[in-house]
Amino acid sequence: MNQKKEYYFPEGFWWGSASSAAQSEGAADRDGKSPSIWDYWYSIEPQRFHDQIGPQDTSGFYDHYKEDIKLLKELGHNSFRTGIQWSRLIPDGQGEVNQKAVDFYNDVFNELIALGIEPIVTLYHFDMPLALQQIGGWESREVVDAFTDYAKICFELFGDRVKFWVTFNEPVVPVEGGYLYDFHYPNVIDGRRAVQVGFNEILASAKAIEAYHKMELGGKIGIVLNVRPTYPRDPDNQGDIEAALAKDIFFNRSFLDPCVKGIFPKKLIKFLLENEVLPEYSKQDLKIIRDNTIDFLGVNYYSPSRAKERETKLELKEGLFMPDIYFEDYVWPEAKMNPYRGWEIYEKGIYDICKDIIENYDNIPFYISENGMGVESEERFLNEDGIIEDNYRIDFIKDHLRWLHKAIQEGANCMGYHLWTFIDNWSWCNAYKNRYGLVSLDLDTQKRTVKKSGRWFKELSDNNGFAE
Ligand code: BG6
Repeated sequence: MNQKKEYYFPEGFWWGSASSAAQSEGAADRDGKSPSIWDYWYSIEPQRFHDQIGPQDTSGFYDHYKEDIKLLKELGHNSFRTGIQWSRLIPDGQGEVNQKAVDFYNDVFNELIALGIEPIVTLYHFDMPLALQQIGGWESREVVDAFTDYAKICFELFGDRVKFWVTFNEPVVPVEGGYLYDFHYPNVIDGRRAVQVGFNEILASAKAIEAYHKMELGGKIGIVLNVRPTYPRDPDNQGDIEAALAKDIFFNRSFLDPCVKGIFPKKLIKFLLENEVLPEYSKQDLKIIRDNTIDFLGVNYYSPSRAKERETKLELKEGLFMPDIYFEDYVWPEAKMNPYRGWEIYEKGIYDICKDIIENYDNIPFYISENGMGVESEERFLNEDGIIEDNYRIDFIKDHLRWLHKAIQEGANCMGYHLWTFIDNWSWCNAYKNRYGLVSLDLDTQKRTVKKSGRWFKELSDNNGFAE
């Protein structure tokens, strides 16, 4: 008889999911919330959003949080990452605090804790208050200081109960989306400004960490990075190897190194010097970054990254610097694709990240803070009982967990696995095109129905793993 293979995880492993405040709350203009850059961008360019659905039409967590938190419990969550919307808590970005927001977040965290679900709370998930974007957003030092104040206010208000804080979700995305590749507001394409934005986010994160540690609230603070292991087209070709290395340095190490080790990669500095695009900084900034590194890391992993030596000359807009002068994106012809999102699915990537953390980042405690699969038109998979049979999602999770399990066996210090996300939610420019949830959402009625994967996830969590 064939012996079953077992994939069980360490005791106390976090099973849960991640969401973000802006993508789930709704109530975008209610109870004192002011516009974020998303509300504003949608108001001026609704055609940039799938089906012209904007950030006011989310899964309505602001009104449904009580039932949603009960659902989390039913789905086997022992932990859940959500966030605070800066533009709800402090409508002008700095200054007065909105008491209605304080009441709301207090209630959310209390409900989670009452049901034994550990809240992990993100302070910034792409959602700059418009008032602060108008004074320069992440390009501005005033905004760095405003973020530090906002973070301190959050720690003071909720830090007695929230024991795991995340300064930023994927800080490279506002750099890429807002300042390089035109998929976030303010839609700038300018490598020099992008570098300043990235630097200021890292500084803001370090300043928040410094403040948190000084307050001695007994919890931990970290950052969530979307780490994309970067592979060369041909592993034996020097040009391809160097291209992959450059892409890795710009989009992974540029954040991993300062956040975990407190220093920037030498090669990154060399690239920036070569192009005369170093950010404005002071010695004191570098000291703050060096002395205030994270306690834990969140790793979002959806897709690997691939690169080849440039084959075509990059036309630089008005001569402005772009990191792409050092590489060209490469699509592996044999890649398994998620055709709806256009992302490659490469399960071993999760293992390669774990090995990288063991070897190059002192095996810092980390967890998989997002992994998931967005699928279009899931109603195709409805069964007679009205349940979406999303076997592909169950397979997707298992395929990644096998590799994660192997890495843990080899010593990776991984604390948990979170799926993106528990209920179909609004996604930036894609709105509701691709559904990611363990629970489906009827956009018209706001009815929630657990998918097959939701039931399976509960078993996974109850058993702390699976056998097959
Ligand atoms: C992550 C983000 O990058 O990917 C989420 O933290 C996002 O905010 C998720 O929704 C899935 O990506 P998308 O663009 O398909 O929503």
